[in-house]
Amino acid sequence: MIQLNNVTKKYPGDVIAVDNVSLEIEKGETIVFVGTSGCGKTTTLKLINRLIDLTSGSITIEGKDISEVDSYALRRTIGFVIQNVGLFPHFTIERNVGVVPELIGWDKEKTRERTGELLTMVGLEPEVFADRFPGELSGGQQQRVGVARALAANPDVILMDEPFGALDPITRETLQDELSPLWNDLEKTVVFVTHDIFEAVKIGDRIAAMDSGKILQVGKPSEVIKYPKDETVASFFAQHRFQLELLTTRIEPIIEAYDENRVKDIKDKITLHPNDSLIDAMDALKSSKDNIVPVFDTQKKYLGIVNRASVTKEISNLIEQ
Ligand SMILES: Nc1ncnc2c1ncn2[C@@H]1O[C@H](COP(=O)(O)OP(=O)(O)O)[C@@H](O)[C@H]1O
Ligand SMILES: [Mg+2]
Repeated sequence: MIQLNNVTKKYPGDVIAVDNVSLEIEKGETIVFVGTSGCGKTTTLKLINRLIDLTSGSITIEGKDISEVDSYALRRTIGFVIQNVGLFPHFTIERNVGVVPELIGWDKEKTRERTGELLTMVGLEPEVFADRFPGELSGGQQQRVGVARALAANPDVILMDEPFGALDPITRETLQDELSPLWNDLEKTVVFVTHDIFEAVKIGDRIAAMDSGKILQVGKPSEVIKYPKDETVASFFAQHRFQLELLTTRIEPIIEAYDENRVKDIKDKITLHPNDSLIDAMDALKSSKDNIVPVFDTQKKYLGIVNRASVTKEISNLIEQ
């Protein structure tokens, strides 16, 4: 667990970048800081790995005050991904991913093995990419390398500062879809910063809405969207409220029992997961051209179906609210 206790960061000239922030970040969760430019997201993130030092308050990770840990040592235990990754241009991809393992003294063989595993994990075949240089990769591929590098020494905590911010919308969505399950499955604690509210809602187990250095509200995406605490938080979502509600309403409550053998008759392979949203359900219904879609959990256990009528009913409930 990461704990921020009354954390304040002042810059010269009386800029209060982070203003008395207290927050508990659970082990294994993905928390997303969302807010407009200049609200203090990056500063908060950099306080956690001591790229900058706080003015007052304290931060602990697993109960240990980070001010008591050597800042270089601390950073080696925390993955960090930024926009435009900051890969070393004259290092191969393999060497870039292996930077931290090398620093902490892993032997060459172990580092090479780990690098290969990680590149595969983020969807880049090592045979193709390991010996290339960053300039020979697309922006999206470079961000994949950035994520692989952050995972290299197997840190418990990963900080991400608008990692997909510079990518085109399609690449951005692909990386969100492919990489966030990866760090969730690995049970990493992820602190993710974005100004993109859709990204926040999609990736976050919880979101922390920030403004003027303060955290205004923390909660599950569906809660924060449905019950914004004040006008400022409401204004973050105002323009896209309906879309965001569709995106954050899960299908789990509308799953119905249905004979598994009859589901087997459905030729389409389109299925849903209980965490999927009404939008996913609409997409699935549209593509399957059927009136029902089977639902399976992560372990591929059959849970039942959702049907067109209940999805439509949920949507009309949202319209009427
Ligand atoms: N090194 C710095 N010196 C002075 N002011 C800074 C510095 N870095 C950030 N700030 C100011 O702190 C505030 C928060 O910045 P930042 O955390 O980068 O915001 P965000 O990441 O949410 O866009 C802004 O007003 C910014 O101008
Ligand atoms: Mg920033």
